[in-house]
Amino acid sequence: MYASSCFHTTFLGYLLSSLQAAKTMNWRRLCCCIYQEKEDGNKENNKSRDYPWEIYTLKEILHATNNFHNDNKIGEGGFGSVYWGRTSKGVEIAVKRLKAMSAKAEMEFAVEVEILGRVRHKNLLGLRGFYASGDERLIVYDYMPNHCLITHLHGQLAADCLLDWPRRMSIAIGAAEGLAYLHHEANPHIIHRDIKASNVLLDANFQAKVADFGFAKLIPDGVTHMTTRVKGTLGYLAPEYAMWGKVSESCDVYSFGILLLEIISAKKPLEKLPGGVKRDIVQWITPYVQKDAFDHIADPRLKGKFDRAELKSAVMVALKCTDSNPEIRPSILEVVEWLKGSVGRRRKEVTNIEHMLEEDGDNETDTDLEGFRMAKSEVRRKWAR
Ligand SMILES: Nc1ncnc2c1ncn2[C@@H]1O[C@H](COP(=O)(O)OP(=O)(O)O)[C@@H](O)[C@H]1O
Ligand SMILES: [Mg+2]
Repeated sequence: MYASSCFHTTFLGYLLSSLQAAKTMNWRRLCCCIYQEKEDGNKENNKSRDYPWEIYTLKEILHATNNFHNDNKIGEGGFGSVYWGRTSKGVEIAVKRLKAMSAKAEMEFAVEVEILGRVRHKNLLGLRGFYASGDERLIVYDYMPNHCLITHLHGQLAADCLLDWPRRMSIAIGAAEGLAYLHHEANPHIIHRDIKASNVLLDANFQAKVADFGFAKLIPDGVTHMTTRVKGTLGYLAPEYAMWGKVSESCDVYSFGILLLEIISAKKPLEKLPGGVKRDIVQWITPYVQKDAFDHIADPRLKGKFDRAELKSAVMVALKCTDSNPEIRPSILEVVEWLKGSVGRRRKEVTNIEHMLEEDGDNETDTDLEGFRMAKSEVRRKWAR
């Protein structure tokens, strides 16, 4: 686990009071000072970590992104544009550039840097550095070559169907593990508040990385829920949060449930029906669950290549996550356990059957060889379905 102590724990407070006190604060100096602190505190760790912190100059970032050339643009969000770049050392980076300076944008920038600076986990996007001076606010991350999940489910990459069933399940488990780290391991605990398909990025191995911490909230010890202004994205918002601003870890669990249904079905969280009525993904799924017609829920692009038992249990987990009562929703740790259990069980069964067949195969005679081969391929086919 990343030692958060190296990061100024009161950085956000310091930042905010500094912002109020001196609108013209020298961010660049602040940035360097934090990095210096990180570097000093982490000199030993950095040697053993494959992820050293970097201090970027504006010149370096401009050079890496070809002056934020339009061709380098890889994403657009509420906060600003995201650009691909390559540093002089040959490292691929993604740079988020704040689009317009406002108190709200500045706050999102500070929150994202503060929170990403505290966390380190295989399923959370890695922060490489940031730059803040004058009107420029930049955040530098690891570049994720397989972009965000939304492009695979509904966007340009959806037609290529790069996400087969096992990949979808491992992305769901990965995103849940990233969240479990935020909710249960990070200190203080963190609520993400904007879990959705465009905020889950995919690395070269299609490993999920939860990103975009602009709306995240640090939860002081002992606090079970808070009331805040509603942030996040329609379709993913837990009802108690959307209606009364009651935020707790279980709001992220609700959003994760919606995301899980989206991963399984490639349906959007909210769909506009002819006549303008909106239907959410849970409403769409419910009749199929009632009729035990789980096959209809799976993304047609999978062409029936999914494990039925896994599909069923993933849908049931998602429905538990999206319960309208936050008290009844599971914790994200339970979700990880259930999803891993369902996938693990199937993998174990396949291995056991293959093993059994291998053993049978050792004693086979020439005459029953053909029958055995057929039986074996039948079993494989059955499990592959
Ligand atoms: N590290 C990255 N690697 C590749 N693409 C990225 C990266 N970070 C962001 N993006 C792309 O940019 C989009 C917007 O980034 P995000 O962090 O969600 O910003 P916003 O706060 O503006 O929503 C993402 O949905 C994704 O497509
Ligand atoms: Mg986003």
